[in-house]
Amino acid sequence: MSAGLDRNAGNALDIGWTRAQFPSLQTQVNGQPAAFLDGPAGTQVPTQVMHAIQSYLMGANANTCGAFLTSRRTDEMLAGARAAMADFFHCKSEEVVFGQNMTTITFSISRAIGRELNAGDEILLTTLDHDANFSPWKALEEKGVVIRQVDIREEDCTLNLADLKSKLSEKTKLVAVGYASNAVGTINPVAEITRLAHAAGALVYIDAVHYAPHGLIDVKELDCDFLVCSPYKFFGPHMGTLYGKSKHLCCLRPFKVRPCTDQAPERWETGTQIHELIAGIGAAVEYIAELGRRVDLSVATRRDALAAAYRTTVAYERRLISRLIEGLQAIPGVRIYGITDPIRFGERCSTLSLSLGNHHPTTIASFLGERGIFTWDGNYYALNLTERLGVESQGGMLRIGLVHYNTLEEVERLLAALREFAAR
Ligand SMILES: Cc1ncc(COP(=O)(O)O)c(C=O)c1O
Repeated sequence: MSAGLDRNAGNALDIGWTRAQFPSLQTQVNGQPAAFLDGPAGTQVPTQVMHAIQSYLMGANANTCGAFLTSRRTDEMLAGARAAMADFFHCKSEEVVFGQNMTTITFSISRAIGRELNAGDEILLTTLDHDANFSPWKALEEKGVVIRQVDIREEDCTLNLADLKSKLSEKTKLVAVGYASNAVGTINPVAEITRLAHAAGALVYIDAVHYAPHGLIDVKELDCDFLVCSPYKFFGPHMGTLYGKSKHLCCLRPFKVRPCTDQAPERWETGTQIHELIAGIGAAVEYIAELGRRVDLSVATRRDALAAAYRTTVAYERRLISRLIEGLQAIPGVRIYGITDPIRFGERCSTLSLSLGNHHPTTIASFLGERGIFTWDGNYYALNLTERLGVESQGGMLRIGLVHYNTLEEVERLLAALREFAAR
């Protein structure tokens, strides 16, 4: 399946065309093609994104709001990239904020929200989340804010919703939750959590960093207050983006310098932005839309094209993760953390973590790395989870992340290498 149409996968993902968009997939390691199974730490970038960055620097490089050509081009580029992200989130352009990365954006929003909180107010966090949706809120303990933590169900690494409900009260001012786990691939019921949080009078802050390459985001449908993700996890450059409801972006008070506009969303974008990379973000959204237009010729809008793309990639990734889990279950000593029942694959994305006997995850990752198979080891900043699972002191877990440019051949190569490792 290295070229041609894969007609069994959703609406005919053209894996040959897809892979041809990503020049780095041609990387070789010790005479073997590289298999990039490290998407959760950052995906590869299609040519369209590289061209957009280069073309901005060549023809539009300037600061904003100046009375000359390249500055006007910069303003136009920013408006275009914001409109692209608005289609991506399904919101208005003025509800899109750019920033250095998700972590930095979250610290900035948590400090602004913290300004409005009082001692005794509560924030609900989870054991499943990446630390970037934990520590920025925990820092508000300095103000007397009380942090409460939702546990997981250890057997399948899903959020314990009963625990969440029992910890929500009229004291809860904010619920911060991940859309999908970057460690074990669990997709959380964020629409339901948002409904519960709103009923209790709390705001909802969703970390969609890991979900963004795996599923269509619809903030209108979710009705969340904030949602944040990082374009470098969905085929774009190293930056972060935030959706915030207009009423919050207008009313909350950012920490900002006086001459900077007080208009939202710009009032949240402190200092000069990384314009060339923002140009790349617009192109990353366009890449996904182009994929959608190729699989569904009837799409009318960019939003429809994005939806068509995700319909196809979700189905394709489902086939990859199904085969991966089936193959792993046949290797003696492998323990998979998270959902493994195929009937429940709608509750997970194509990322998983595993342990193999008593082997240190770094040893396994190095063995695979020598063979050109790129995986991750450790806690990937999902520190509460690795501690809760009791694996933090053993070096964490080995993480395998599959995105739509990966192939069944790569999954088979990985399985063969793990079998070889296990049999040593
Ligand atoms: C689920 C999740 N949330 C947050 C982050 C932090 O994102 P950033 O690197 O943009 O700060 C990551 C990064 O790995 C992540 O996987």
